[in-house]
Amino acid sequence: MTEFSHRVEQVSMSGIREVFEAASEDAINLGIGQPDFPTPSHARQAAVEAVENGNADAYTSNKGTIGLREAISAKYDRDGAFSVDTDDIIATSGGSEALHLAIEAHVDPGEEVIFPDPGFVSYDALTHLADGTPKPVGLREDLTLDPATVEDAITDDTAVFIVNSPANPTGAVQSEDDIREFARIADEHDVLCISDEVYEYIVFDGEHHSPMAYAESDNVVVVGACSKTYSMTGWRLGWVTGSNERIERMLRVHQYMQACASAPAQFAAEAALTGPQEPVDEMVTAFEERRDVLLDGLADIGLDTPTPRGAFYAMPEVPEGWVDECIDRGVVVVPGEAFGEHGEGYARISYATGIETLKEALEVMGEATRAVR
Ligand SMILES: Cc1ncc(COP(=O)(O)O)c(C=O)c1O
Repeated sequence: MTEFSHRVEQVSMSGIREVFEAASEDAINLGIGQPDFPTPSHARQAAVEAVENGNADAYTSNKGTIGLREAISAKYDRDGAFSVDTDDIIATSGGSEALHLAIEAHVDPGEEVIFPDPGFVSYDALTHLADGTPKPVGLREDLTLDPATVEDAITDDTAVFIVNSPANPTGAVQSEDDIREFARIADEHDVLCISDEVYEYIVFDGEHHSPMAYAESDNVVVVGACSKTYSMTGWRLGWVTGSNERIERMLRVHQYMQACASAPAQFAAEAALTGPQEPVDEMVTAFEERRDVLLDGLADIGLDTPTPRGAFYAMPEVPEGWVDECIDRGVVVVPGEAFGEHGEGYARISYATGIETLKEALEVMGEATRAVR
């Protein structure tokens, strides 16, 4: 057999998948990053109509339909933090492709990418695929990323640092001061900040802030997606935005890798972004209630959990063997080390599931804790 590229050999399948494979079929799955809500019906309907009318048969513009890009631009206007020109957006196959484009277009072989550890699994893998050098950095006690840690880690070889707020796997939300600092660091050190904002609306305490609003240079690109906000993970629709020069470079990668995002998904996303936003509010309210139930339950069990202020994940500190005990007893959670070395001693619990199921899972977690302590 022929050899595989060294880039691909450095990437393994995500540790999350291994956990799913170890679990029984009727297990309670608290391992998955997927809201348990339906996609809003007006979004589904827009895709159905586009398909039936024949509007989704052909390639769209590489950057995406003008209707969708206008909807994304209008969304940023509505949010009031910064404005985005429709020419400076590429609709992508989920936030995942947007991250890929951003890293591929900005990282040369051997250049460093700084990212949070524990952090979203793609950051390390995509850095390897670009032949860059991953530089994971640890977090504060509350699981937020300290801008000073990022600044200390920057060297002459640093191309990019990644900020993810609200964060997977921690649920941490960075303060406005931190976000201002990240913008300053991107400006002063002339490194690119990739701000992964796919959970931007799922915030319970405080507010979401983007370094794009504060940077004075064009050294920030923002990754967004419909996946979590509108429970549209299966539609595969995200975007990246940044200065026109950066977008034109990322477009070169997108054009040859993807040509354009799926047309039906673009119609659905446009409707999701321009239609009623109540489904988002309802989902966020439900997540907040569940977070509170989960935090109370974990405290009763005696597990310390930094308070997650957004997304739908919590990361308690857990005793050795705890994750396996939970999985053996039919509750799937992900070991913290699946998200980086500094994740060891933690587990990620996704609470994108109903309150009754969460309570059942908490019973099991209590038993698992007693078994290993
Ligand atoms: C932090 C973060 N960024 C990006 C993504 C990718 O999202 P998408 O499903 O839109 O590709 C995820 C998905 O779990 C995520 O958690």
